[in-house]
Amino acid sequence: MSKAPTTFEEWWVGSYYRRFVEREGVPLYEGSILEDLATLPLGDWERRGGKAAYTRLGDQEEVNLQIVEIPPKGELKPERHMYESIMYVMKGSGATTIWQDGEPKKTVEWKEGALLAIPLNAWHQEFNGSADEPCRILFGTNMAQVINLYHNLEFVFHNSFKFTDRYSCAMENFYADEGKHWNLRLFATNFIPDIRRFQLDRWEERGIRTFITRLYMGNSLSQLHILEVSEGTYVTAHRHNPGAHVVVIDGGGYELMFQPGDERNAEKRQKVYIKPYSVVAPRANEFHQHFNTAKGPLRQLAFKGWVRRPLSTNSKGEYDSVGAARSDDPAGSSFKIRYDREDPKIREEYYIELERNGVSLRLEPVDQGG
Ligand SMILES: [Fe+2]
Repeated sequence: MSKAPTTFEEWWVGSYYRRFVEREGVPLYEGSILEDLATLPLGDWERRGGKAAYTRLGDQEEVNLQIVEIPPKGELKPERHMYESIMYVMKGSGATTIWQDGEPKKTVEWKEGALLAIPLNAWHQEFNGSADEPCRILFGTNMAQVINLYHNLEFVFHNSFKFTDRYSCAMENFYADEGKHWNLRLFATNFIPDIRRFQLDRWEERGIRTFITRLYMGNSLSQLHILEVSEGTYVTAHRHNPGAHVVVIDGGGYELMFQPGDERNAEKRQKVYIKPYSVVAPRANEFHQHFNTAKGPLRQLAFKGWVRRPLSTNSKGEYDSVGAARSDDPAGSSFKIRYDREDPKIREEYYIELERNGVSLRLEPVDQGG
């Protein structure tokens, strides 16, 4: 009779995603914060060339980041995969070619700040356009979820099915299109040349002088958005499912995180200073709150998962973003702490931080914040 496991090593504690990353031979970063993705140490990546690392942040295996560096004049080997992927350029410039089997290739050129959809299971290959500098790119993906679900790498990486409803060369303007502002806070596009300069919509329900645009990309159910917190303000604390990865792309400040029940306990609040390319991934239902303490706006790119309902048409055949733009928290919802209900010490501490940074803007004494 086989013996019951007695040591940690004898228990099966891994996951197919972990096994995959081990097999890739590059680092896996865990926890809920990474200080700087731009300088994060990466490992040599035999499968595609260049260097890479993966994340398992926020105690979940649905959404993950893949951080990749391509050497000067270098390129990655082509790949295709049964998971969704959105690419962001952190540093450098280059190009991505995209194609379906048997169709001509399409090339998109990019530089720092660009955001690009990699269509499901389409071939893609990335090139560094510089002869002197490496380029560093970031993929937000649901690879962890898909690998765990099918646990068969042959199926995930060598699947010949063509999703021509997602992408085909017949979609001539797939990347050239300027996109469409479907409704307040929802924009459909497959390529944004520089998200640091992309126009956002107001979102006062989340915070004073706060802006957001949710993005519908790659004909997929990816949930991602760009959020901007103006100088001299912060957003209300909120919580949701795990999987959200908030990547700072401009400005700086700090993040407060705390568990439900600790709303008024300053000692239990985790405080982390953030700067461009810091990433914060709150755990399930962990409250989090973004504070801008720098001069100028704090802008973030957030990957939130692949659970949104698709854009659908109404009875007149017009697009209707069912669900997508309806996620604003109702006033006083238990998932958000209004400014007038938060621990007053939070604002006191914020003003001390602003003072230290020479920012003179101050908020109204009490604001409902929606
Ligand atoms: Fe959030």
